[in-house]
Amino acid sequence: MRALATGPRVALAADARRDAHHRVAREVAAAAAPRRHVVGARRDAHARSPGPSARWPPPRGFATGPPGVASAPPAVVRASASDAPDRGPGFGLGSRALDASRLDARGRVPVGARTVILGIETSCDDTGAAVVTGDGRVLGEALASQGEIHARWGGVVPNLAREAHESAIDDVVARALAAANVSPEKLSAVAVTVGPGLSMCLRVGVVKAQDLCHQHGLPIVPVHHMEAHALVARVGDGETANESNESNESNDDDDALGRAPFPFLALLVSGGHNQLILARGVGEYRVLGGALDDALGEAYDKTARLLGLDVGGGGGPALEALARRGDPKAYRFPVPLRRRKDCDFSYAGLKTAVRLAIERDLGKPADGDAFARARGLSDDDDASEGDAEDPSFSAEETARRDAVRADIAASFQAAAVKHLEERTRRAIAWARESLANDTKPEPSGGNLSCVVVAGGVASNATVRATLGAVASEAGLPLVLPPPRWCTDNGVMVAWAGVERFALGLAEEAPSAEQVSTPTEEEPSRKTRREVPLLPRWPLGTKDARATGEVKSSKTARIAPPLRGVSG
Ligand code: KG4
Ligand code: ZN
Repeated sequence: MRALATGPRVALAADARRDAHHRVAREVAAAAAPRRHVVGARRDAHARSPGPSARWPPPRGFATGPPGVASAPPAVVRASASDAPDRGPGFGLGSRALDASRLDARGRVPVGARTVILGIETSCDDTGAAVVTGDGRVLGEALASQGEIHARWGGVVPNLAREAHESAIDDVVARALAAANVSPEKLSAVAVTVGPGLSMCLRVGVVKAQDLCHQHGLPIVPVHHMEAHALVARVGDGETANESNESNESNDDDDALGRAPFPFLALLVSGGHNQLILARGVGEYRVLGGALDDALGEAYDKTARLLGLDVGGGGGPALEALARRGDPKAYRFPVPLRRRKDCDFSYAGLKTAVRLAIERDLGKPADGDAFARARGLSDDDDASEGDAEDPSFSAEETARRDAVRADIAASFQAAAVKHLEERTRRAIAWARESLANDTKPEPSGGNLSCVVVAGGVASNATVRATLGAVASEAGLPLVLPPPRWCTDNGVMVAWAGVERFALGLAEEAPSAEQVSTPTEEEPSRKTRREVPLLPRWPLGTKDARATGEVKSSKTARIAPPLRGVSG
């Protein structure tokens, strides 16, 4: 995912979407919930509408928050007998709650080697699909990234992203199924990201998942994008293999499936999120700290652009590569929030310091797009073309500028990662304190098992090495998903689907009405198929020690936090 772009190029990016751009800039600035950074985004009013008119799904179509979280009490639709766990109301993706016949005496779905779940991810600019078994084997995965499409605009353009998802989705799902050698009717369920993310992008994946489930009579599992980032750390040993294993057809031991047993601390760092989470179980998350402004991935993306890098393959990887050639001590950029003894994050100040250094040592182009002029690019050029410098520079000057850029990149990364290090060290202490004061039985209680680092930025080698040192200093293992499962992908959604399905947090296949496109003869229905989505959806409740302010007055649009099975 790319950072929010501003300036003349953005207007060019979408002639007809000029107004939407301003609207979104305001919305993005005002957003309090985990955000993604987009160009010309338009909130999809449809996505906030309740589900189809029937009693199912319940009003507003999503689970209530845990006790103490304000939310309208929707009708509770239980999936099983009255002694079964309370799963809250259904999400509304399917036609009804999971049939009781699927559940065991504990109200759970037996999940194991023969359970095969397809996961679909389209929340932002990657179309991902994967097939994963209940015991954590990845049978097949496929991905279509849109980096090149958005690179020239300096941020994700939602309409372009939607179009790209629409043209890729069938092929990506088919490729994942083919790689897994599984036909759709053999699937146990389909999991799909329903939020947070860009509504018009989420919709593409959800429509595909609903269609497949309807066609083949499969249960559907709604997935929270950030929970998926965290839970992918629990996928087996990270291997991708097609070997079969017909044993182990039960999930009696909740933590036998993963490398990161609950409770664990997760540092989630992506393009739209920067969070420290105490994870005590599926759907049981305490947010110890979050982003007060920019997320780290966004800061990487923007800095890469300011440095004039080729961001076609992502700003983060480009900046990381440049930083390898630089001196991390060359610039003394401020490590953010040192005086605030909490676990929140802020990257806006660092970003400004970097911009000022760039302007001072490399010059400030007249149009404000720091390197467009230096690179000799006109507004019509493709900003992803690379880091060609102005040919009028002498060889010495070009070499000097190159060294300065590498030093700035390395120094930015040093301060940015130091911030992660300091906050994570404190969060480990907070998490241990919470668990020590808690009487909850395991897996919710007990000792902290490990530190998980996940999300796109977790593919960065410096981040991985630094957090490894923080964890070992605390006597904890560090669990890192392989880099390709850190950036958005289908495996993480399929795996989160496995974990949720096992808890019965799924719904029966959508009805024919749910997957049909309304016609004009049906005035009672909207002109477009209604799809329940949660574009703004917190992962958990905020810890009492977290002081971060909610900057938005639009909290009404934010869904109650994700939950799992309570009771
Ligand atoms: O998780 P992700 O794929 O999408 C979101 O959910 O946002 O994360 C994408 C973010 C982008 O901002 C990208 O620049 C950043 O992760 N990223 C990196 C690296 N690879 C991806 N940042 C720093 N170093 C990397 N190697
Ligand atoms: Zn992500």
